[in-house]
Amino acid sequence: MALTFPAVTTRSSLGIGLAGFGTVGSGVWNALERNGDLITGRTGGDVCLHVSRILVRDPAKARATTSEVPGEMFTTDWKALVADPKVDVVVELIGGTTDAFDIVAAALRAGKPVVTGNKALLAERGVELFQISRETDTPIHFEAAVAGGIPIIRTVQDSFIGNRIHSFSGIINGTSNYILGRMTDAGLSFEDALGEAQSLGYAEADPTLDVNGWDAAHKAILLATLAYGFAIDPSLIHVSGIEQVKPADIQFAKRLGYVVKLLAVIREHEDGTVELRVQPSFVANTNILASVHGVFNAVAVNGDTAGESLFYGRGAGQDPTASSVVADLVEAARSLRRSGSHRGFLPYSDSGRILPVGETSTAYYVRFDVTDRPGVIAEIAKILADHRIGISGTHSPVNPSDPDADFVDMVFLLHTCPFGKLQAALEEVSALDCINSEPVVFRIESLG
Ligand code: NAP
Ligand code: HSE
Repeated sequence: MALTFPAVTTRSSLGIGLAGFGTVGSGVWNALERNGDLITGRTGGDVCLHVSRILVRDPAKARATTSEVPGEMFTTDWKALVADPKVDVVVELIGGTTDAFDIVAAALRAGKPVVTGNKALLAERGVELFQISRETDTPIHFEAAVAGGIPIIRTVQDSFIGNRIHSFSGIINGTSNYILGRMTDAGLSFEDALGEAQSLGYAEADPTLDVNGWDAAHKAILLATLAYGFAIDPSLIHVSGIEQVKPADIQFAKRLGYVVKLLAVIREHEDGTVELRVQPSFVANTNILASVHGVFNAVAVNGDTAGESLFYGRGAGQDPTASSVVADLVEAARSLRRSGSHRGFLPYSDSGRILPVGETSTAYYVRFDVTDRPGVIAEIAKILADHRIGISGTHSPVNPSDPDADFVDMVFLLHTCPFGKLQAALEEVSALDCINSEPVVFRIESLG
């Protein structure tokens, strides 16, 4: 299908339709106010970015911007924003996978490049959107969707284009890293730490995705799609979040020389299958990822030619995320200028297989909530032995305020085995009458 791109109004002007003016959207406004001239200068006058239209739910809401936004810029009608002739590029920053889908699809169909920070949208509905992008030869840019201000998308897409990527391992959710840090260092409750992350603008509008691991999983899906080229079905990957992390786990990890991190692991195996999982993990103090604190993210990439590289920076928040959006806007402006040469990412392979989680192997930390009576350890140990799972240690923390408590947390450290084997054993352990709830499992990762 022959397509024409919308004419950019003057050589140096690019009109932005900003769908969403919350944490990130208003950050983009501020960044353009602050550095618009700098960008124009750096591009030799080629790129002058200005916001033409803004989509919100409530135009009357007070906005924390560094300069006043003219009231007439606001609309609540996304179709009007997409169709506006003054809008050359659509920036989707409303979040979610429904209205955001309609906006992105309509913009692509109108031949308007899209910039988005919406990892849920691309991980859940990317197959449809990349298809439209291909059909309309109109790019989707999504640097802000993974790891906030870290330019990891462009790095994988461009700088590592000549590498076969063996693995990624990383901390790619700022909110959960912030929460774990505040629980560890300041003794905050989970709820209080989450409240802080929300007020700092790190958390999603619905923070469930941050704490249940799915925000990190969406980002991991995008990284894996970039590296291995095929679209990944989210239902095939193993995800668990930080909701079950207790201060006792953090303390126990510390005594053993580990820290607890929500880790995303992506690894290509020799048979071409791709391991992709997100879960709370014990990371050795000596590993560089153990030093990633607060809202910071880090992604370790292992390429066959480049070897190991580490990318570190702020993974969430207004300004770092706006930095990535603005970089994509410049890229989008350039793609419009080179009319017809698609410059966004498109999945390039129809085939690829995710390794079933049961076949992935690590060592484990398992916490059981048990009724403390003689023989409990032996009963659990027997089942593990029957499944030929080695035990490297056990521990039963005593509650100092009630040393004779009937219910205690009992911890087992287990040698490396396939996760499927562990699951089968834990199913039997859970049926013991001394076990009061589902066992909690963390991976003990040995990273490169
Ligand atoms: P936010 O603060 O909740 O802002 C959302 C904005 O979208 C608000 O302006 C809201 O309007 C508007 N909006 C929401 N639904 C709408 C609808 N159906 N129609 C019209 N307007 C609608 O969200 P955010 O933190 O900026 O995040 C935006 C996106 O960026 C999400 O996809 C998120 O995952 C992604 N992201 C966020 C961060 C971060 O650190 N926050 C980092 C990277 C990526 P009102 O203002 O009128 O309510
Ligand atoms: N809620 C996300 C996080 C925002 O905390 O990492 C950045 O994608």
